[in-house]
Amino acid sequence: MEVFLSTRSDLKSVPDCYVLPPDKRPKQHDAPVGQAIPVIDIQNIVDPDDRAEIVQQIVKACQEFGLFQVVNHGVPGKLMDDAMSVLIDFFTKTPAEYKAQFITDARDKSCVLYTSNLIYDDHEEGIRYWRDCFIHHCYPLEDHIKNWPEDPPKYQEVIGPYSVGVRKFLMTILDLLCEGLGLEPGYFAGDHSKTQLLSVNHHIPCPDPSLTLGHAEHSDPNLIAALHQCDVPGLQTCKDGQWIGVQPIPHAFVIIPGVQFKPISNGMFSSPRHRVVANTKKHRTTLGSFLVPTDDSLTEPSKALINESNPQRYKPFTMGEFMAGWRGRLEEDVGLQRFVIE
Ligand code: OGA
Ligand code: NI
Repeated sequence: MEVFLSTRSDLKSVPDCYVLPPDKRPKQHDAPVGQAIPVIDIQNIVDPDDRAEIVQQIVKACQEFGLFQVVNHGVPGKLMDDAMSVLIDFFTKTPAEYKAQFITDARDKSCVLYTSNLIYDDHEEGIRYWRDCFIHHCYPLEDHIKNWPEDPPKYQEVIGPYSVGVRKFLMTILDLLCEGLGLEPGYFAGDHSKTQLLSVNHHIPCPDPSLTLGHAEHSDPNLIAALHQCDVPGLQTCKDGQWIGVQPIPHAFVIIPGVQFKPISNGMFSSPRHRVVANTKKHRTTLGSFLVPTDDSLTEPSKALINESNPQRYKPFTMGEFMAGWRGRLEEDVGLQRFVIE
């Protein structure tokens, strides 16, 4: 059976299989958290003036940083805290024998527990990252909830409403993005957002964070993600060649638009490259809620953004076509390059 990091409390040094080759080790693993990353309060989106202002803040954040944080989003703080503790308990208290049923290489299983990045990173076979991950489908809830863990006992009772609340919030963010990009309301409501995944990352304290990474440098190949961090920093984003830490803010979500938003915005948005660094002292757990387009859903630049002085820069493509050429991580530009109009 896989050796899960979460089961190891005895590590005095980084085991060889987690030591990255020198050129992949994190420079600036201790980069300070950046106060400049926008924190957007969406409490007043029903007020038309405030809403217009919020849309502008989101557009600016996507252009300048690629990602942003949101507070007062409507998902209750208590529900967020409960979800975080259920998932910390899943990793740290639920017996390994119980969790073993979720360990599988089959990607079509409803719940998958894996260590490192075995699922997504075939092209980097042999390289391990300092994380365990648990992932499952969430939407529609009634199709999936019965497959979720029953230990911790509150898992389904808490994660059910949590996933419904986060989906509603993400649909609100997508509507605000539609307004910012000149797309009709509800543009993303069908196939673009049909699949919802909860992907939970768990990192244990690491004897030497300069040798490894909690999560490789990557861009997310989905429509959009809402990341809920515990109070331990680790997420970093790259701006102008510098890594900056994304500060954990209680009850905030980090919104990470997927690479699709670069072509949808006709190149106006930058796709945020991000990674997770390890730390020596504390466990770190994050809950990532992802909306993923179906294979036949179409990505194309918003027509409202195209005119004579700003010609269309990307050809339309389906998610299936995109994923067939996507090799992950650093390859955002390679992944999109095939669709660039020269
Ligand atoms: C991801 C991711 C960041 C984090 O799951 O794609 O980037 O802080 N997670 O866990
Ligand atoms: Ni990511």
